[in-house]
Amino acid sequence: MKLPVMLCAAMLGVALQVAQAADPIVIRFSHVVAPNTPKGKAADYFKRLAEERAGGRVRVEVYPNSQLYKDREEMEALQLGAVQMLAPSLSKFGPLGARQFELFDLPYIFPNKETLHRVMDGDIGKRLFGLLEDKGIRGLAFWDNGFKQMSANRPLRRMEDFKGLKMRIQSSKVLEAQMKALGANPQVMAFSEVYSALQQGVVDGTENPVSNLYTQKMHEVQKHLTLSDHGYLGYAVIVNRKFWDELPADLRVTLEEAMRDATGYERDIAQKENDEALAAVRRAGTTEVWILPNEERRKWWRALLPVHKEFEEKIGRDFIQAAYAVAAQVEREQGVRK
Ligand code: LMR
Repeated sequence: MKLPVMLCAAMLGVALQVAQAADPIVIRFSHVVAPNTPKGKAADYFKRLAEERAGGRVRVEVYPNSQLYKDREEMEALQLGAVQMLAPSLSKFGPLGARQFELFDLPYIFPNKETLHRVMDGDIGKRLFGLLEDKGIRGLAFWDNGFKQMSANRPLRRMEDFKGLKMRIQSSKVLEAQMKALGANPQVMAFSEVYSALQQGVVDGTENPVSNLYTQKMHEVQKHLTLSDHGYLGYAVIVNRKFWDELPADLRVTLEEAMRDATGYERDIAQKENDEALAAVRRAGTTEVWILPNEERRKWWRALLPVHKEFEEKIGRDFIQAAYAVAAQVEREQGVRK
């Protein structure tokens, strides 16, 4: 029996609608580090949780290692909606016009992770995310990497060893001032270019948590690593605000819960990943590892502290003071507990 043309067209239309309704919403999650880093593993973990819990309504595509975009490009891509989710380092929000994020770059401002997490998860974290809203970005979570260490092809044992060295930094004015205060010559460069720049001698050294150093194989082209813990590197997981706001409300809740759980996982593994990376660097035998003695650490601290004052206006005196207050509170509590 032949069906009337109109009926066929109507049936086809319904079939198409059903197919479209069944098409998952795609979240493209781009990042610049290797999959076997705290950020890389947590991005994959979020994908798993989100897809399982959304029951086929969402597909998360993770693109690691600057495969899609480099540092600056990925921010633009997020704002344009070419990707929906990123987790840039907190040192990369300055060029967006949110210099207050450079609070996290101030040398030695976080004496421990407890202070850091209270700052991120408290009022300061909320206010920082608030600054992104009119840039078309929504902040979802703060992720850890760890404290940064210095590397170069010459030993970095005393401050004077930095003199004249070209040190790669992320795009942060605070990091620029930090390297200058040490006597080095800072060079802003995308993460994806650091390995070859070190290899070819375009820059002499860099700073990063060891998990990044190891997974980018920088230890193969850096003879010396100084464990200095002089600053911190962490991330903000951010989404395109319009995309997020337009998600069905129940799905958004599911994804926010998945993000909360992925954040717990990320913070749990970050230290371990860095410890394992350090053990691997030691095993590789390409790089001499030096633990900065306390006496020298105090010298670095004294030289770098003026950077806090220098950036009071740009970052906000209230933010810096609030971070100091949290640090003092944590110290009091830990003193009481001892
Ligand atoms: C860097 O550029 O050194 C880091 O921000 C890379 C990263 O995302 O951890």
